[in-house]
Amino acid sequence: MPGAPVKIAVLGGGYGAKVPLPVLADIAEFHPVAVWSRTPQRAAELAEQHGLELGTSDVEELLAHPGLEAVHVATPVATHAEIAIAAARRGLHVLVDKPVALDLAEGRAVRDAVEAAGVVCAVNYGRRFQATRERLLARVAEVAGAPRMVSISLVFDDHALPESRPFTWVQDAALGGGRLQGYGVHDLDLLLAAFGEVDAVAAATEVGVDRRRDADGTPRAVTAEDAYVILVRFRGGGLGHISLTATARHGRGDVIEVHGSEGTVRLDADKRLHWGRAGEDLQVEGPLKADSKQAYARIARSFHAAIRDGSAPDPDLAEGLRVQALLDAVRRADAERRWVEPEPV
Ligand SMILES: NC(=O)c1ccc[n+]([C@@H]2O[C@H](COP(=O)([O-])OP(=O)(O)OC[C@H]3O[C@@H](n4cnc5c(N)ncnc54)[C@H](OP(=O)(O)O)[C@@H]3O)[C@@H](O)[C@H]2O)c1
Repeated sequence: MPGAPVKIAVLGGGYGAKVPLPVLADIAEFHPVAVWSRTPQRAAELAEQHGLELGTSDVEELLAHPGLEAVHVATPVATHAEIAIAAARRGLHVLVDKPVALDLAEGRAVRDAVEAAGVVCAVNYGRRFQATRERLLARVAEVAGAPRMVSISLVFDDHALPESRPFTWVQDAALGGGRLQGYGVHDLDLLLAAFGEVDAVAAATEVGVDRRRDADGTPRAVTAEDAYVILVRFRGGGLGHISLTATARHGRGDVIEVHGSEGTVRLDADKRLHWGRAGEDLQVEGPLKADSKQAYARIARSFHAAIRDGSAPDPDLAEGLRVQALLDAVRRADAERRWVEPEPV
């Protein structure tokens, strides 16, 4: 049935329960039927709360649920590829959260499984559909020209103290944690969406607060970065830098500046967008919204259209793998202290 709702399950009781589950329940294109959480009780509570057929902590039980057509994978990054591949092998369409996988090799394995099964795979780079960033991308295309200097600066205070966050997978590099997976990949995605090609990156990451207690109160060593700086050389010329600290004592809104050959675009910390061509005064728009649910609804609707009409999802897996290649290059540049070119996907 071309427009019929897609029966979908959400894996993940964190972000998955906060944004995807309520949005999928709200829009006509989807019918959420099942949810997975690591904790059986949380899975049962979420199923009850959203009127779902199944709440489980067993991934296989969820994937085998009768009538299920698609999944959204919103679990720790180190588990994305295994779950996405298992889902594709069962003929389920996959919306995988960002980044696609731990590294490009795993990401390619997801692509192989998706292609072999002939299912749709979309990647949740939804931040670029928040009005702040969507308008920025539109103004860049309109006035900026070729990139000369681009900067993206994020400042948070939510990891400033050992007790401001418990130790979870987010602080564990082996599970794919860190602020690069949280925010850095969205900003790499933004650069690719705005300017297409990156020639090489250099990077430094740091763990500023290196001890936290887990939910049981046990002290744990933090291995995943809470700060980073990335330098970017665009193919064809132009430089960029992306930075984040999560341990500032005073947070502020995201600041993004694009200085191009033909004009300028700036998102200020109060979500106002300034833009203009060379020789013109900058115009101002906003404050704009940065609404995660609205952005996710865009991704979900495009995923539905891809499943029912055969159109390409936006963003598709190829875009997700291009960000993955850049993330791999950033990690290698940091570890080896040198410029690194991203691998072709
Ligand atoms: N696209 C976006 O804008 C966006 C925003 C936020 C997060 N995300 C993505 O969503 C995914 C999950 O992030 P999150 O913030 O939701 O994480 P989370 O709340 O810590 O955990 C998500 C799910 O994984 C389970 N889990 C936690 N630690 C685990 C472990 N060690 N092994 C197996 N399962 C574990 C949790 O179990 P319990 O249910 O028992 O807690 C929960 O169901 C990540 O890929 C992240 O990048 C995307």
